[in-house]
Amino acid sequence: MLNIKRLLFAALAVGMVAAQCDEDIEIQSDGDVSQLDSCSRFDGSINIKKGVANIIFPTSVSSITGDLIIDGAVGLTGFSAPGLKTIGGSFKLNGLTVLSTLSCPELVSVGDIAWSTLPALQSLSFTKKVSKANTVLITDTLLTSLEGINLVTAERFNINNNRYLRSVNVALGNVTDVLIIEANGKGVNASFPNLKWANNITVRDAGDVYFPVLEEVKSTAAFVNNTFETVSFPELTQVGESLAFVSCSRLTKISANELEEVGGTFQLANNTKLAVVEDFDKLAVVGGAVDISGVVTNVTLPSLDDVRGGFNLQSTEDVSCDEFNDLKSSGVIKGDDFTCAGKKETAESKTGGLGTAGSGSTDNESAAATFGASMLVAFVAGVAAMVAL
Ligand SMILES: *[C@@H]1O[C@H](CO)[C@@H](O)[C@H](O)[C@H]1NC(C)=O
Ligand SMILES: *[C@@H]1O[C@H](CO)[C@@H](O)[C@H](O)[C@H]1NC(C)=O
Ligand SMILES: *[C@@H]1O[C@H](CO)[C@@H](O)[C@H](O)[C@H]1NC(C)=O
Ligand SMILES: *[C@@H]1O[C@H](CO)[C@@H](O)[C@H](O)[C@H]1NC(C)=O
Ligand SMILES: *[C@@H]1O[C@H](CO)[C@@H](O)[C@H](O)[C@H]1NC(C)=O
Ligand SMILES: *[C@@H]1O[C@H](CO)[C@@H](O)[C@H](O)[C@H]1NC(C)=O
Ligand SMILES: *[C@@H]1O[C@H](CO)[C@@H](O)[C@H](O)[C@H]1NC(C)=O
Repeated sequence: MLNIKRLLFAALAVGMVAAQCDEDIEIQSDGDVSQLDSCSRFDGSINIKKGVANIIFPTSVSSITGDLIIDGAVGLTGFSAPGLKTIGGSFKLNGLTVLSTLSCPELVSVGDIAWSTLPALQSLSFTKKVSKANTVLITDTLLTSLEGINLVTAERFNINNNRYLRSVNVALGNVTDVLIIEANGKGVNASFPNLKWANNITVRDAGDVYFPVLEEVKSTAAFVNNTFETVSFPELTQVGESLAFVSCSRLTKISANELEEVGGTFQLANNTKLAVVEDFDKLAVVGGAVDISGVVTNVTLPSLDDVRGGFNLQSTEDVSCDEFNDLKSSGVIKGDDFTCAGKKETAESKTGGLGTAGSGSTDNESAAATFGASMLVAFVAGVAAMVAL
């Protein structure tokens, strides 16, 4: 008799706990969080709705296996999850007009971070720092730094349109898909002190970049409309597709003395102070075209011995073409499209308009797609068969 009673009681208890901690829930008002009181691991997703003002999770909640979503809660001023360590799914915050406190002091691991339109959020209180996330998209916030996010690897890392952001300094060692930094605070310093490998890199509108250990970019690397004067890639040996520096109006010096190969187009355009192109001591192979235009007076590429696409060097200044005429006649430059001319009225690039295709404002998920497409305009068509791998 007693045993059956006990059994029933136990079953009931399990049933109750299960009902609370393993089903998706919606939180409509601040008080609704009490539903989470007995949960440590929450199996499911939590969706916080419009009517909330200040959400404080019970300290017991340490993990959420699904998503944590707060979308359109325009009256929410603060969100705190004092015990939360992991979010398995997406941590999505969107359209939270007055959210000024975001406190997750124990949070270290998130599936995906997707934060957009948080115009009152200036800083994060992430004491332990998020060190693991697959993708990060942070757009249109008031954040002045990303202190609190310190990832080691990520698939996508896209930080755009955060107008007060002064620095991005992240421990990332490998970005397996795209790395995009654009349209943030004027002069933002994009530092990736540990980054060795990336698939694609796009940096626009930055004041400085720091890639001291970057060794390989598998696909494209593009630096557009940045205000740095000098830039260096001391360890970079290979870029699988295109490498471009475009519309960097103060740029006077680019150094990449270990760079041996650019698989696609090597483009320098609209850099209105870049007169001397040197410090590419080992650049031997360009799989696409070499396309340099602007105010260049000296171009020195001492190791160049295989350019599979065309060659375009146009300058408004006096520039010597002797070296490149020789490379053309000796067959180092294989594309038919060959131009080398100084003292031109206008110096034209032959690769599509990287400098004009702003991207962050049109597509936050794959911001650099626009330039990816414009790359197709590259004048390597004549040797497409050779370039196609
Ligand atoms: C980075 O990740 C890519 C894709 O998983 C891999 O091919 C590459 O070897 C990794 N690079 C480093 C330095 O870990
Ligand atoms: C950018 O940050 C790097 C390291 O984080 C630093 O070495 C560099 O001086 C900074 N640039 C500027 C302009 O402050
Ligand atoms: C270039 O960057 C500056 C900030 O440094 C920004 O104000 C301007 O809109 C950008 N121009 C383009 C064409 O993206
Ligand atoms: C640039 O080229 C000119 C003429 O060939 C030469 O006199 C000058 O020393 C060169 N400057 C640099 C910085 O290489
Ligand atoms: C250079 O700038 C001009 C005018 O700003 C623009 O029309 C052109 O497309 C730019 N070129 C490249 C290669 O971005
Ligand atoms: C991308 O972000 C900017 C700034 O928040 C916004 O204006 C734009 O509408 C967003 N684009 C998309 C496709 O979401
Ligand atoms: C990134 O690289 C891939 C090839 O790995 C390329 O197809 C794609 O267009 C690139 N994406 C961007 C946004 O540049």
